[in-house]
Amino acid sequence: MEIKAIRGFNDVLPEEIGTWQFVERTAREVFEGFGFSEIRIPILERTELFSRGIGEATDIVEKEMYTFTDRSGNSLTLRPEATASMARAYLEHKLYSFDPVAKLYCIGPMFRYERPQKGRYRQFYQIDAEVFGVSNPMVDAEVILMLIHFLKRVGLRDLELEINSLGCRECRPPYREALKRFLTGRAFLLCEDCKRRLEINPLRIFDCKVETCKGAILEAPQVTDFICEGCRDHFEKVKEYLSMAGLSFVINPRMVRGLDYYTRTAFEVVSYQLGAQNAVTGGGRYDNLFREIGGVDIPGIGFAVGIERLISLLPERKDLVLYPHLFIAALGTEAQRRAYELMNRLHLEGIRAEIDYEGKSLKSQMRRADKLKARYVLILGEAELAKEKGVLRNMINQSQEEVPIQSILSLLKGKILRTEKS
Ligand code: HAM
Repeated sequence: MEIKAIRGFNDVLPEEIGTWQFVERTAREVFEGFGFSEIRIPILERTELFSRGIGEATDIVEKEMYTFTDRSGNSLTLRPEATASMARAYLEHKLYSFDPVAKLYCIGPMFRYERPQKGRYRQFYQIDAEVFGVSNPMVDAEVILMLIHFLKRVGLRDLELEINSLGCRECRPPYREALKRFLTGRAFLLCEDCKRRLEINPLRIFDCKVETCKGAILEAPQVTDFICEGCRDHFEKVKEYLSMAGLSFVINPRMVRGLDYYTRTAFEVVSYQLGAQNAVTGGGRYDNLFREIGGVDIPGIGFAVGIERLISLLPERKDLVLYPHLFIAALGTEAQRRAYELMNRLHLEGIRAEIDYEGKSLKSQMRRADKLKARYVLILGEAELAKEKGVLRNMINQSQEEVPIQSILSLLKGKILRTEKS
């Protein structure tokens, strides 16, 4: 029986990879220009890093983690996100001892056992950026500016930046109580999951997709009415710094984010093109995360962009597919040997060349060159070979000329450079 990929796990095929590489390349360029360095973290971590970091009573930890026991009896989990791992690495390697401020990014796959649908997968990729060690609201706006700049550079349009403040350790508990009181009166509207959430983590009810739960929460008290003076001041400054950076935003008091570590600033960039799964990216400040995983008070802020969702919104970029620069159509054994030799020389110079390995007819080689969308074809027949020449055909305008085999390399380099620059 043919073995297929696991549900919710995708292959990224050669025809799509150009866009993926472009998105990742742009992220590196933009983030490094903002002073961020790449960090690579493991895909597997101890389960408690996520259960403590993200929060026991979140959907991710309760029902979406790929957790298993290894042969030594350790409980391990495939990372559902990168923030907790990056914070762990910062603590473990004492990155703060060089400079307390660390600006880090990472790109890679995350794993969540969610119900697969368009834009929601079990293995998906994130581009994640974090700043550790700064509590000044300037950095909140700096990170958001970097995010928006990146999204614009890859070609996203018509996006909306939504922000909210989630309060802190001091002002969140009274809000939680008020929310609980409000929802207890409407508990009959809540689904079974939300009835349980009401007791342990009522904020999570905001994320529920069940219609009656959405109705129950409609007129619920808003977190921004409960935040303390410190949080209010922080939020005001974030708005001011965003405006100074030329960014417009919408305040969404219902956006609570699905992970428990957030405090104060939370943000999402949404696209209405994406339907239900409309968040391309989400992030925020998490002054509680380090305390949960390391017992220390270190502030942090960051975001993660879902690569699949981002790419689904980008206009198709045919120019990012890599076609052969040259197809060498050889006729006869000697010509095929010369084609092989020439192809090697071109490859060593970074020119994508293809040959026919099967001694096919000229017609079928031309058909293949056409199908592969080769820019040029060099025809090497016996007659041309005798003169150390070949016929170079431009597949776009169909013009052709006889050229010395010796000069193919320099000729192509010139032509390719000219067209790739234009
Ligand atoms: P998140 O909102 O859970 O946040 O995920 C961030 C982004 O990852 C989402 O906006 C979405 O584009 C993408 N994403 C999430 N789940 C899936 C899925 N099942 N399939 C496809 N794409 C998905 C976090 O992960 C936080 N760690 C973000 C953060 C960084 N906060 C502070 N620093």
